[in-house]
Amino acid sequence: MPEHTVVHEAQNVVAREPPHHFFKSQPRPGHVKDAEQYMKMYKQSIEDPSGFFGPMAREHLHWDRPFTQVRAGSLQHGDSAWFLNGELNASYNCVDRHAFANPSKPALICEADDESENRVITFGELLRQVSEVAGVLKSWGVKKGDTVAVYLPMIAEAVVAMLAVARLGAIHSVIFAGFSAGSLKERVVDAGCKVVITCDEGRRGGKTVHTKKIVDEGLAGVDLVSKILVYQRTGSAGIPMKPGRDYWWHEESAKHGGYLPPTPVNSEDPLFLLYTSGSTGSPKGVVHTTAGYLLGAALTTKYVFDIHPEDVLFTAGDVGWITGHTYALYGPLALGTASIIFESTPAYPDYGRYWRIIERHKATHFYVAPTAMRLIKRVGEAEIAKYDTSSLRVLGSVGEPISPDLWEWYHEKVGNKNCVICDTMWQTESGSHLIAPLAGAVNTKPGSATVPFFGINACLIDPVSGEELKGNDVEGVLAVKDSWPSMARSVWNNHSRYIETYLKPYPGYYFTGDGAGRDHDGYYWIRGRVDDVVNVSGHRLSTAEIEAALVEHDGVSESAVVGITDELTGQAVIAFVSLKDGYLQDNASAGDVAHITPDNLRRELILQVRGEIGPFASPKSVVVVNDLPKTRSGKIMRRVLRKVASNEADQLGDMSTLANADCVPSIISAVETQFLAQKKK
Ligand code: WT7
Repeated sequence: MPEHTVVHEAQNVVAREPPHHFFKSQPRPGHVKDAEQYMKMYKQSIEDPSGFFGPMAREHLHWDRPFTQVRAGSLQHGDSAWFLNGELNASYNCVDRHAFANPSKPALICEADDESENRVITFGELLRQVSEVAGVLKSWGVKKGDTVAVYLPMIAEAVVAMLAVARLGAIHSVIFAGFSAGSLKERVVDAGCKVVITCDEGRRGGKTVHTKKIVDEGLAGVDLVSKILVYQRTGSAGIPMKPGRDYWWHEESAKHGGYLPPTPVNSEDPLFLLYTSGSTGSPKGVVHTTAGYLLGAALTTKYVFDIHPEDVLFTAGDVGWITGHTYALYGPLALGTASIIFESTPAYPDYGRYWRIIERHKATHFYVAPTAMRLIKRVGEAEIAKYDTSSLRVLGSVGEPISPDLWEWYHEKVGNKNCVICDTMWQTESGSHLIAPLAGAVNTKPGSATVPFFGINACLIDPVSGEELKGNDVEGVLAVKDSWPSMARSVWNNHSRYIETYLKPYPGYYFTGDGAGRDHDGYYWIRGRVDDVVNVSGHRLSTAEIEAALVEHDGVSESAVVGITDELTGQAVIAFVSLKDGYLQDNASAGDVAHITPDNLRRELILQVRGEIGPFASPKSVVVVNDLPKTRSGKIMRRVLRKVASNEADQLGDMSTLANADCVPSIISAVETQFLAQKKK
């Protein structure tokens, strides 16, 4: 078990009722009346998934051809499928049907980096833009089953691009715009994308991001990519455009006006790939299918957040991650609900930004990662009261555990004690919420993600015996016993890796990778990852990938990366490296240019990770050591490093399996001088 983020005493609380205000602004009952109705629906969803999800799928999605069977396959065989033989189109479901019914209704409320550039895109306008871009892609030969990479910041055009790809029955692979050129290339090549959609430059926090330049660098020599569509975001002069490969979005779209009919696809045809990090190897292209994913997105948005037609949802996440896919795009748009698309940061131009957005657009729902709230709590709390945020009904939390303290702070300072807090536990692979309260119906407890969503047969397993833990007041790893509609179906081009990672660890179950407890009321408390995955500011990072980036450096012989608890970012990355024999000495005597001191080597290594993966993966500190602690079989004992970096060298535990225990004292002193001493400064 990892260090527990939530203290167990927190579990001894009585579940809270929703505040009265919640029902004033949204008359009772919401979509689900109370806990009893939740229980009844949940029970049916587990005992009779076909009877539950069949009618739900018919009610919430438009089908070009009805499905003939609700569910098939098994977790044992890794061949789960939903809504068999049905046909539909995600773009039609998210755009056309709402545009036909209500063309002037806002779809995307765009908050630009610079607030004077804000704009609103209605469903009618969205349909026009999606049709045009789909027309461009079609003219380039993009068709059903092709993969298209999208490397764009959090702007409306990212949503337009994704929906345009989906309109043709093609598969989008969004690459977070914070990824480096090398990471972009790795993902484009793995997914076999012949077309990339990007922009000239991005704007974030008043700074310019050279997006197209990064694309050019990443794709130099990648012949696979034959066409790049470039949206003009800043219009700066001198953006290099390669003739025959690079085309301007506005010029090409102008050639493809008019309605382009969507291409219906099979329920199980992939809608998108999204790369995510695991504990080993290269990033995995998680595959989500059209019908099941879209239904999961729509149902969780509707029932967990208790969304109604006139609501305005502000998901403060990026479309480069799953939160943006599901709760900024597919969930709200499938329901015809307005979604706020936020390009900037909570600190720009000042810490009042989130609250101004909520006031300006009368947002009813705000959905954010605890890390952003920790930042606001520390430096921007005074800003909140300056704005009228009384339109808010639901405050969501996502990506990492929220501590009971922060939960209370969120409830009081942001929600004015008038909102329901929805702590939502889920993953890239789950597609939509796994464990989350239905706002207004399920009582909440600070620090608990509460209860499973419809169709999620959640359970805890004893990691030692592999047995399922029955009853309440138990602690184990979180797993799911049956497939659910929005479960990832595969890893792109590597189905066996999908089975190995998620289905093999506990046969018959889907393994989440998280440790969790279930309290006396059956509420779940997520403890954090049990594998070598670090969660920094709600971003999933693989220690193995960061280690691989570090050993790319000339001087590094071996590296080991651990996550430690961090006040601001939840977890922080600490990297340990041992150097090649004589590296510092050789370079110190090699003359001015190559003169490397330990300090600038550490800086170089941080830059190395930023360059190989992206700035968000930067280690908080790099510690140069003589040797890494290893078992007799040569396995690095990260537990020892984690304890030392957490300033808990007095609790190292059993070290009898270490082959080189004598290196530990020097690691302790290296951490003391290179990391802890700096922290104190
Ligand atoms: C991992 C998934 C879900 C979208 C953003 C992250 C952790 C997520 C919670 C929560 C405690 C959480 C888990 C999970 N996690 N939400 N509410 N409480 N932990 O998606 O990058 O796929 O990461 O994030 O450890 O496995 P992701």
